[in-house]
Amino acid sequence: GAAQPVIVAIDGPSGTGKSSTSKAVAARLGLSYLDTGAQYRAITWWMVTNGIDIEDPTAIAAVAGKPEIVSGTDPSAPTITVDGTDVAGPIRTQDVTSKVSAVSAVPEVRTRITELQRSLAASAEHGIVVEGRDIGTTVLPDADLKVFLTASPEARAARRSGELKGADIHVTREALIKRDAADSSRKTSPLAKADDAVEVDTTELTLTQVIECVVTLVEEKRATR
Ligand code: DC
Repeated sequence: GAAQPVIVAIDGPSGTGKSSTSKAVAARLGLSYLDTGAQYRAITWWMVTNGIDIEDPTAIAAVAGKPEIVSGTDPSAPTITVDGTDVAGPIRTQDVTSKVSAVSAVPEVRTRITELQRSLAASAEHGIVVEGRDIGTTVLPDADLKVFLTASPEARAARRSGELKGADIHVTREALIKRDAADSSRKTSPLAKADDAVEVDTTELTLTQVIECVVTLVEEKRATR
């Protein structure tokens, strides 16, 4: 029935409209919202700020438990803090973006962040939309609905460069492809489509159409369980 909390996992590479879609779907359905990429960015920001050598997985692993990362899950005003400091701005810099794949590939980092994600999902009163790379495969394998968003590399680069004012689209495209390759090929919990995920190719769709599509999928799931 509709009273039971509903867990929605939305995975896919960058530039597929994952964040915009997930936030809007959560707001529409009265669910909580969690941006797991922001958590990996936050722990990366902490590593950089504290002078940890991000080329050294052993050094990263040794301090992975230190920063306290807190996510606010209201889809209309998501927040993220590290040891009480608001890091919503600093986690979006090119510096953090270029280092996040290396930090998020370290198993101790993933274990730590995955625990946070599971506890937030379990405590969401009406349910939650969780977006990331490994949510359907690893973090929440029992999610009620799993969606895997895709788009052509051209569409993804164009969307990302629209977000980054004045950015060179070719630089953006190369960096994005490199980050997706790193995220897809790492040993621990890579970017992957779960067998039972619904794949939605967003290349030819507007954001509104993608949101409608996912809302309909959630409502269908709710009606049949
Ligand atoms: O969604 P995003 O671009 O903000 O994610 C930043 C990085 O975090 C991404 O390049 C890989 C990592 N990430 C991850 O490893 N697992 C997730 N569930 C989400 C993000």
